[in-house]
Amino acid sequence: MKPATRRRHPSFAVAIVMVLAIGAAPRAVAARATQVAPGVWRIRLGAPDKQTPVSFSPMKPVTAAMKDLGAPDRSPLDAGAIRWRRTDRGVTLELPLGDADQVYGFGLHLITFNQTGSTAAMLVNENQGYEDGSSHAPAPFYVTTGGYGVLVDTLRPATFHAGNTERAKDPHASERPKEIAVTTGDLYRARAVSTKRMMVDIPAAKGVDVYVFAGPTPLKAVQRYNLFSGGGAVPPLWGLGVYYRGYGRFAEPEALNLARYLRENHIPCDVFGLEPGWQSAAYSCSFKWSPERWPTPDAFIAAMKGMGFEVNLWEHAFTHPTAPFHDAIAPYSGDYTVWNGLTPDFTLPEARRIFQEYHGRELVDKGISSFKLDECDAQPHQQRPWSFPDFAQFPGGLDGARMHNLFGLAYQRTIGELFTQRNRRTWGKVRSSGALAAPSPFVLYSDYYEHRAYVRGILNAGFCGLLWQPELREASSLDDLYRRTQTAVFSPQTVIDCWFMPQPSWFQIDREKNIRNEVMPEKDQAERAMRDILNLRMSLVPYLYSAFSDYGRTGKPPFRALVLDWPDDKKTWNIDDEYMMGDDILAAPLFGHEASRSVYLPKGDWYCFWTGRRYEGGVSYDISMPAERIPLFVRGGALLPLAEPVEHITPDTVFQLTVRAYGSPCRDRVLFEDDGFTNDYARGLQAKLTLSWSPEKGGSVARTGNYPKPRNAVKAWMPISGEAVPPTAAGG
Ligand code: GAL
Repeated sequence: MKPATRRRHPSFAVAIVMVLAIGAAPRAVAARATQVAPGVWRIRLGAPDKQTPVSFSPMKPVTAAMKDLGAPDRSPLDAGAIRWRRTDRGVTLELPLGDADQVYGFGLHLITFNQTGSTAAMLVNENQGYEDGSSHAPAPFYVTTGGYGVLVDTLRPATFHAGNTERAKDPHASERPKEIAVTTGDLYRARAVSTKRMMVDIPAAKGVDVYVFAGPTPLKAVQRYNLFSGGGAVPPLWGLGVYYRGYGRFAEPEALNLARYLRENHIPCDVFGLEPGWQSAAYSCSFKWSPERWPTPDAFIAAMKGMGFEVNLWEHAFTHPTAPFHDAIAPYSGDYTVWNGLTPDFTLPEARRIFQEYHGRELVDKGISSFKLDECDAQPHQQRPWSFPDFAQFPGGLDGARMHNLFGLAYQRTIGELFTQRNRRTWGKVRSSGALAAPSPFVLYSDYYEHRAYVRGILNAGFCGLLWQPELREASSLDDLYRRTQTAVFSPQTVIDCWFMPQPSWFQIDREKNIRNEVMPEKDQAERAMRDILNLRMSLVPYLYSAFSDYGRTGKPPFRALVLDWPDDKKTWNIDDEYMMGDDILAAPLFGHEASRSVYLPKGDWYCFWTGRRYEGGVSYDISMPAERIPLFVRGGALLPLAEPVEHITPDTVFQLTVRAYGSPCRDRVLFEDDGFTNDYARGLQAKLTLSWSPEKGGSVARTGNYPKPRNAVKAWMPISGEAVPPTAAGG
């Protein structure tokens, strides 16, 4: 270090001396691992923050289900192998990584997938097009193919270095390549990094709790993490139907017209969403209906309900001076405003109560069934960010930086509780989330729109108890329209978001033309194709509902990267464009104008959903598919219930099922049945419908449980034996 530099930065010089005094590497400490739930250990280092993801997690771990996963008596990570040090900067943590361990997680990511060798910053962003590990939903949790997960329990903007640091005299450093690199890419890649360490930098902390989640498989480690947070969210049945969001400039008559169009043309839709224009002030929000655009909200809601729509409202939390509860919530808000609106501190029960009482009385009790929670994220990369600054102070004790890492989740919990208090379920949209979010009934979205990134988000969310919806907006071609809609159908929430154009995307895919009310010549053809694609979603509701019920009971993510189910198969480690929906459907989306792609099928038998042809797993196939069809493969031995599509779901809907039996023998399929709308299932008011099939006996159905009304009726059984496709042939 040059003396001149040292003079300009005296504090840096002090820090250097401290590091030298302590030594270059974090020291081992005599920490103990304390078992806090079946298969979960806490290792306490120094003096941890009081306000952390775990301290704010409102639900208890589901210990019985955690025991069912198996309860090993030792932590998979030895406390003695964890090293740490405390400096002026904060805490530096070193966690061991196995030689071949592949690392996944750190929250919702759209650009990166296998995080081995990556850096991930726990910074909330608003657009996702970054590779720095910032995200709408950073979560300081990772899982490895070594079969365990780790939560570093901090709200601070920590940074994880997943095996990409190189220490002085590093015994684990890899060899450098001998040849001279002649591109900067090769040059900078050629570092002697150690893959054996996960380093975590936690600024300003004085200590931290590390939670270790046993597997023995990575999937079980993720399940345990989800159960630790209270289990996965179970949507109301209507939440699995289609969402349409109307133009931001709509007034009541236009919204009603569009809703009527959907019904008259039999386009399935369960939820109609209103964008900011429903309010008298948005940016920031008054939370009051606009007297010009929505003069008769009660009549509007009644008309929408009469047509079978649930109504969803857009909002953000920043509270406008004209909001009725503005003055009441002021003492419980941060010291910086956003768009001239107060920022409620949702960590405080008073702030939650004031926000909930108003929302309950004026909106939910009048028939609103879900919300879109916007702009609860932040903009660390923008020159002129709109959100509150990192140095803001909140009355509950958090600073802005830590509040950013909690704000989206605390907001979700405030709105979620509102429905729980009324024994109703909700299924909303949100733009930010974080650690331990599995029980939260909200699905993440973004303004970002790259299609491959959208698919990657589905997979990454599944590592960390998050859900992601790749919505449809505009499109560059008819193929692009269909391909994007297919991805929306094979996701936790199917959303057509036309907030920035007045006509549905299939009237006109080009936004500018759509705004000019131009209609494409291919509109009728596009409408037919869209109806079919959306109907496929409606056929899959019973299957999906049961996958979500598993998420609730066992923590098993309903949407998963292949590596979670097949961690020992190295070929799955970097597959970021195929995924499992439930236990038996593998989706391999196509993008833009692509008509074919390579699909890797893991070991076992697989059947093309469309043709019934059989594929042997363990190899890749070139799959061609017309634009109206997404490549889908069903696992051999599956019983797949497909419902006759309904346009929307009511409390009385009984799904009429055709059960496809893929190969023989088939595993029993259990369908979860309940009222689909309340939380009574959690108090035991539920039933299980077990479907069984064998070539000799055919199909049979057995129902057990307390919920009296059948939700499913089996109309037909369809055995699929399938002519086998040789590995090299083009299939589909
Ligand atoms: C954006 C949001 C969009 C839309 C818009 C309305 O921030 O991501 O989906 O709701 O606000 O103003």
